[in-house]
Amino acid sequence: MSAFEYLAQTKQGRMNDLFSFLRFPSVSAQSQHKDDVIACCNWLDQYLKNIGFATRIFPTKRHPVLYAEFIVSPKLPTILYYGHYDVQPPEPYELWESQPFEATIRDGYIYARGSVDDKGQVFAHVKGMEAILKAGGQFPVNIKFIIEGEEEIGSPNLVDFLKENKAMLKADVAVVSDTAQFSNTMPAITMGLRGLAAAELYVYGPNRDVHSGTFGGAIANPVNTLCALVAQLHDKNGRVTIPGFYRDVKPPSKWEKEQFKKLPYKEAAYKKELGVSALQGEKGFSTFERSWVRPTLDINGITGGYQGEGGKTIIPSMASAKITMRLVPDMDPVKVLASLEKHLNRLAPKSVKIKLAKRGGSRAVAIDPKGPWLGAASKAIKTGFGKTPVYFKEGGSIPVVGDFKRLLGLDTLLIGFGQNDNRAHSPNECFRVVDFENGCRTAAALPFEVAAAAKK
Ligand code: BES
Ligand code: MN
Ligand code: MN
Repeated sequence: MSAFEYLAQTKQGRMNDLFSFLRFPSVSAQSQHKDDVIACCNWLDQYLKNIGFATRIFPTKRHPVLYAEFIVSPKLPTILYYGHYDVQPPEPYELWESQPFEATIRDGYIYARGSVDDKGQVFAHVKGMEAILKAGGQFPVNIKFIIEGEEEIGSPNLVDFLKENKAMLKADVAVVSDTAQFSNTMPAITMGLRGLAAAELYVYGPNRDVHSGTFGGAIANPVNTLCALVAQLHDKNGRVTIPGFYRDVKPPSKWEKEQFKKLPYKEAAYKKELGVSALQGEKGFSTFERSWVRPTLDINGITGGYQGEGGKTIIPSMASAKITMRLVPDMDPVKVLASLEKHLNRLAPKSVKIKLAKRGGSRAVAIDPKGPWLGAASKAIKTGFGKTPVYFKEGGSIPVVGDFKRLLGLDTLLIGFGQNDNRAHSPNECFRVVDFENGCRTAAALPFEVAAAAKK
């Protein structure tokens, strides 16, 4: 029996196992879920042990890293897989059509928090491995897995883990399935990701909330001031106003321009899917360029003043905003955050105090289009999805990919099984059953393609 036959015969059991994995509310950002994160890690650990992997759980300052390996022979090439078992917070609950942690299938989609980001994608690889073994086959390569519990909070402890375990993690190529395909009919290999720099801005006014009739007009309102500050961070052409922000940014390359032009772009459908009547962004760039290879600045949340029922006439004592910037190659998150701080200090009026809490970040990733393993990934996707993948870029961030290159010298194959309309980070996150199935098949094919490529 081949691994593909085994997969075809075990569809229902595979879905049940995925549903068990999806049942853990492994929300890394919320301390109330600390034990759920651990329980999820333990479950996956046991699963990998049962199919024959040697595993070890590495505790960190916050959530554990699960490491698993199947070493066949030191003479064979080694693939290092990375994924994350933590998920984004499910809120707002009331917008979910079914429970976020009780997976259900509707119209060919699996609905659950983590279904596409990233449990379903990680599990496709686990199931691909299981199929190879259960069908009586042998791995043609050594397999290593790092599955972490802190990706959605920026992987704060993973760099130390990589540094401390370099020998254990030695490999020839890394594989990450935590991205999207180009579309339902176009599987893809992702050739670049943006980096991230995060901060929180606090604006302080009077030492308490005060009556807006008594004091309004005579002192600065921190919420008004915060909004004014935020409004000054872009100019009328949609460019970020931080001095030096674009200093290290290169214009889209020839390869990017040509590659992106080949991809179908349907603006009407794009707007309709998002429910917006017009697009907006940096002047002079296409939608693909704006969202894949141009840096951005966004407010992810803003807080201040009275937000309960009814009204309350006050000048609030403080206001705050969560800010993230998406970075492109050569931008340094540390430098960018320092420039933002300087800029805000210059813009802020004397009537308020401001503080910028820097939350770190990660660098952008650019995959070499001449890389030696891309052909193997392409063939495995062709086997799994029945179509040769296209090359594109994406705007999201996976902090570890840059660290793999810098610390372990590893190139990464970004082979996503998801879709951009799977609502990652949103209510009703979902994963197409077909994409999960084809992902499992791709996973079962990939080790053999990598082994074949290594022989060349
Ligand atoms: N799977 C995503 C990364 C991603 C998103 C890749 C979209 C390609 C397209 C990952 O889980 C994620 O959400 N990353 C965060 C990183 C942050 C929390 C440091 C992101 O991009 O916001
Ligand atoms: Mn992810
Ligand atoms: Mn995510």
